[in-house]
Amino acid sequence: MDLKSEEEIFSSMKRSVPVEVEGIPFHSVTKDNWGLLRAFAARPDDLLISTYPKAGTTWIQEIVDMLQQGGDPQKCARAPTHKRMPFIDLFFPKPMTSGIDDAEAMPSPRTLKTHLPIQLLPPSFWEHNCKIIYVARNAKDNAVSYFHFHRMNLVMPEPGNWDQFLEDYLAGKVMCGSWFDHVRGWWEAKEKHPILYLFYEDIKEDPAREIQKVAQFLGIELTEPVLKRIVHHTTFETMKNNPMANYSTLPSSILDQTVSPFMRKGTVGNWKEYFTVAQSERLDEICARKLEGSGLSFRTQL
Ligand code: A3P
Repeated sequence: MDLKSEEEIFSSMKRSVPVEVEGIPFHSVTKDNWGLLRAFAARPDDLLISTYPKAGTTWIQEIVDMLQQGGDPQKCARAPTHKRMPFIDLFFPKPMTSGIDDAEAMPSPRTLKTHLPIQLLPPSFWEHNCKIIYVARNAKDNAVSYFHFHRMNLVMPEPGNWDQFLEDYLAGKVMCGSWFDHVRGWWEAKEKHPILYLFYEDIKEDPAREIQKVAQFLGIELTEPVLKRIVHHTTFETMKNNPMANYSTLPSSILDQTVSPFMRKGTVGNWKEYFTVAQSERLDEICARKLEGSGLSFRTQL
C-alpha cells in the first residue's frame, strides 16, 4: 500500500468520537468490523495476552516472547511487537490490514493481544480453553498513562485536560470502557478459565519472580542465565531503546512520540504528580465500592 493512502487513512481516523458497542466505547472502525471480531477463530494452542490499555501490555508481550524464544533477543528483534503478536481488536479501514488479518496469516502457535472487556471476548477463546495472561495495573497510574497515551496517539479521542480526562475515565467513558469492570471481570473469570492474572506492580517489584510464574504457566523450563537475560532485556531502559518494542516503527501521524514517548515513565506512583488529594480520595472510594467482595486489591506505591 502506498504511503499517501496510508496517510489518508490515518487522517480519516484522527481524533474521532468513540461509538458504543454493547455499552462500551470503541473506535467506529472497530464497530464496523464487530461481526468479524465476534467470529474470530481462536485456535486451541493460541496464547492470549489481555489487558486494560496501558497496564503494561507491551512489557508482558516482550517477556512472553523472550520466554518463547529461549531468551534470545535477536529472535525477538524479528519484527515490532504488534507484528509479532497481533492485536485482534485493532482495525483500520481497508485496504490497510488489521490485527485479525495478521493473526489469520500467522502459523500456530500464535500469541495474540486484546484489550476487550471479558464479556466481549470472541467466544472461540472459551470454546478452545485457550491460555490467557492478564496484566492489571493500579487505577491511578493506569489513568495517568492513558491520559498521556491519548495526547500522543492521534487516533484516540481528544482527552481534554487532566481533570476532564479523569472524569471520563472514572465514568468508563473512554475506549474499552471502565477500568473497574475490566479488572474485575477478568479476575472473576480466572476461577473458571486458564488465566494467569498478574499485576504491573508485582513485575516492577520483582521481575524475576513474575517471569518465573509466566514460565511455569506456559510450561517452559528456565535456566538461571536465561532468566537473567530476560530480566535485563525487559527492563524499562532496555525496552525504551529497543525499536522493536518501543513503537518507534509506527508513523508519527499515528503515535506522536514528541508529545509523549510510548515508553514514558515505567514506574509505580507517578500518579502522585497528577492527582489532587480530592481526586485520589474519590478514586479510592469508587474503587472500594466497585471491587467490593471481589478479593481484588491494588498497590499504588512500592
Ligand atoms: P507509563 O505511561 O506510566 O510510562 P501498554 O503497553 O499497556 O500500552 O502500557 C504502557 C505502559 O507500560 C507505559 O507506562 C510504559 O512506560 C510502561 N512500560 C512498558 N514497558 C515497561 C517496562 N519494561 N517496565 C516498566 N514499565 C513499562
